[in-house]
Amino acid sequence: MSYQVIARKYRPAKFADITAQEHVTRTIQNSLRMGRLGHGYIFSGLRGVGKTTAARVFAKAVNCQKMMEDPDYLQQVTEPCGECESCRDFDSGTSLNISEFDAASNNSVDDIRLLRENVRYGPQKGKYRVYIIDEVHMLSIAAFNAFLKTLEEPPPHAIFIFATTELHKIPATIASRCQRFNFKRIPLEDIQQQLQLICDAEHIKVDGDALQLIGRKAQGSMRDAQSILDQVIAFSSENDHDGSISYQGVAELLNYIDDDQMFAVTDAVTERNPAKMLDVAQFVIRNGYDEQDFLEKLIEHLRNLLVVQNLSSTRLIERPDAIRDRYQQDAANISPFSVMQMVDFLLLTQKELKFQFEYQFRFELALLKLIDIVHSVSSSTPMMEQPAQKKKPLTSY
Ligand SMILES: Nc1ncnc2c1ncn2[C@@H]1O[C@H](COP(=O)(O)OP(=O)(O)O)[C@@H](O)[C@H]1O
Ligand SMILES: [Mg+2]
Ligand SMILES: [Zn+2]
Repeated sequence: MSYQVIARKYRPAKFADITAQEHVTRTIQNSLRMGRLGHGYIFSGLRGVGKTTAARVFAKAVNCQKMMEDPDYLQQVTEPCGECESCRDFDSGTSLNISEFDAASNNSVDDIRLLRENVRYGPQKGKYRVYIIDEVHMLSIAAFNAFLKTLEEPPPHAIFIFATTELHKIPATIASRCQRFNFKRIPLEDIQQQLQLICDAEHIKVDGDALQLIGRKAQGSMRDAQSILDQVIAFSSENDHDGSISYQGVAELLNYIDDDQMFAVTDAVTERNPAKMLDVAQFVIRNGYDEQDFLEKLIEHLRNLLVVQNLSSTRLIERPDAIRDRYQQDAANISPFSVMQMVDFLLLTQKELKFQFEYQFRFELALLKLIDIVHSVSSSTPMMEQPAQKKKPLTSY
């Protein structure tokens, strides 16, 4: 059997399986029930959040014979049945009622003219022809103009779905003729849950913390999460004997800097321990981690501390439970004001390092300086009298 990547194998075939985009799918299903379909839709949002998937399910639904012939089914289920001839054609990729057009590589006026020619012909079977125009913001202005006419007087059988990651680049003349749907970044828990379902279906043993790490790396894109999972599965089957996926394995593959190092930095500060700080700097340099990445993660670490300090809860911390507990404890060991001071300093350092060559020793010095900053501040201005929220930030960003 040939291997199919996870993102394709697990592409949702109905509205209900599209995660985290209910605001879109519900509206579309309502308009299907009421028989009120538009001719132009814009699906915007980050890559890999379900735009193409939703467009395909929509195309399948408007042509589903069961939906057309069975009013109860239409009202109560409002999903493509997956069994009628039209649905089967869609599933096997042979339906003529859907055309996908990549505007990134076909963005000239001539390409649009060809498309317009094509749009004139109605469907042989089914009711609608759906044109999905991906990356539509890549069209030239002339190409957009060539399209306008078609959008103004679309043939009754044509539905256009424009997908884009950059909504602001679509001319108002086009946007105002379409219904607009903004797809959300997919929340970490939803990504994690979906990955878990996939691993279960594939009979792969996996650690919840490992999936969380993959989900975090994907930053809201389900496709990215699934691609990383593909990679991780391949990697784990080579390395672990039983092919199970561990947190350690994922961290290694993603070259993820361990949270321990972040806690070591704040420990070094609270303990006034420069030797410990130098160890961290050496760890980063020796293992070839990128210093800028490290600083970015360190800022996120400080952000986590601030969040826990301000909410007195770890619910917004996207980490395994053991690490969340650690945040809870450490938040009490350092004042919010000191944390802010460190953040300000690190933001500046990040900028400065960008313009330096050979900056390893500067990186080391910057880490050491953190100890100094916190202690010189807190010795001259006792933290109890200097609540962080009243103090203006040192730098403005
Ligand atoms: N909301 C979602 N729910 C479930 N799976 C999704 C979702 N969004 C994306 N995916 C997965 O990611 C893959 C790519 O999604 P796609 O719809 O092509 O993203 P894009 O928004 O870039 O068009 C799909 O095949 C599917 O496996
Ligand atoms: Mg797409
Ligand atoms: Zn059907």
